[in-house]
Amino acid sequence: MRLKGKNIILGITGSIAAYKAAMLLRLFIKEGAEVQVVITPAGKEFITPVTLSALSNKPVISEFFGANDGSWNSHVDLGLWADVMVIAPATASTLGKMANGIADNMLITTYLSAKCPVMVAPAMDLDMFAHPSTQRNISIIKEYGNIIVEPGEGELASGLEGKGRMEEPEKILEAVVHQLEVKKKLLNKSYLVTAGPTFEKIDPVRFIGNYSSGKMGYAIAEELAEQGAEVTLVSGPVSVSTTKPGIKVVKVESAEEMYTASVDCFSESDGAIMCAAVADFTPAKKEEQKTKRGKENWEIELTPTKDIAAELGKLKAEAQLLVGFALETNDEITNAQNKLQKKNLDFIVLNSLQDEGAGFGVDTNKITILEKGNKSTEFELKSKVDVAKDIVAKIIELNN
Ligand code: C5P
Repeated sequence: MRLKGKNIILGITGSIAAYKAAMLLRLFIKEGAEVQVVITPAGKEFITPVTLSALSNKPVISEFFGANDGSWNSHVDLGLWADVMVIAPATASTLGKMANGIADNMLITTYLSAKCPVMVAPAMDLDMFAHPSTQRNISIIKEYGNIIVEPGEGELASGLEGKGRMEEPEKILEAVVHQLEVKKKLLNKSYLVTAGPTFEKIDPVRFIGNYSSGKMGYAIAEELAEQGAEVTLVSGPVSVSTTKPGIKVVKVESAEEMYTASVDCFSESDGAIMCAAVADFTPAKKEEQKTKRGKENWEIELTPTKDIAAELGKLKAEAQLLVGFALETNDEITNAQNKLQKKNLDFIVLNSLQDEGAGFGVDTNKITILEKGNKSTEFELKSKVDVAKDIVAKIIELNN
């Protein structure tokens, strides 16, 4: 019973290999999984929903809406329910729809809503499989993080021989078991992550802010959660969002609010990753009414904000981990090393505005991790999602 307690969505599409999906379903059930079948209209031409609902002990989902009774199937709920989604067989058409987000059936809407790993077992004729279009779609969905269970070589339904046969159900089962057994490395850990900019109010309609998008901090929070950690994400005003289970988002606006929210939960955490671009200064006086245009210059007095990272550095217990960021424009290494010491950080992630593709707003970043004892590791330009993986890998390494 290697899949006991696991929820699986089995997506079936219109290929002759659909008959093998019944066997795969049987194997999942025998291993203790709860399985919800979602089948495309073409899939139903190859295998009957009656067979599949009898094997899974659940009605098969195919349509968006129930039969004339006004009910509808929620692909969003399903996408959140599953521990893994397995699309077997996956036709060339379904691969194309997945790659391009063409959500014209229940299987694709469920796929787009799925928060879990998605595994895909293509099945088609050898020439269809070899076509550049199919190969491009496969590489696109791999980039999305989906896992391809490669088809085998052999006799095909067309009578031809070659690559395109859906992998055997037993092999797909093993791939799924392996995927679910990949150990999460931060189970029972909890982290505070700060993200985004802060807005410092000048008057009711104006503020001092910065260009931080929050993308890096949100990616780190999601990767920590992916590894099993509980995350409190203290976020300044951003347009990105997350619905990943395991992340509690606390929305704040000013540096002062971010400070209070962070200090509040730090003592309960195993560590904090200070990714936010916190304002260093705030208007000494916040005007109650909108300041009107006048002939005179408008001088605004600014006072320093509290340095949240430095404060947590003082509160930090031996076992807690504190990670800071440094966005520098010059003397990068020296400045970052000074911050590492001054704020009592375990490591600091340096990104330089001199590097193309690094810093605010963009989807990529190029970082160097500096640790105590002058140890530094430089990484190449990557997507912020992959940079988050490198940072979390360092946290895991230091935890051990
Ligand atoms: O000193 P500097 O602002 O460059 O330091 C950057 C690091 O300190 C980042 O990790 C940032 O999140 C944190 N910081 C903070 N509170 C501030 C200023 C910066 O937590 N008021």
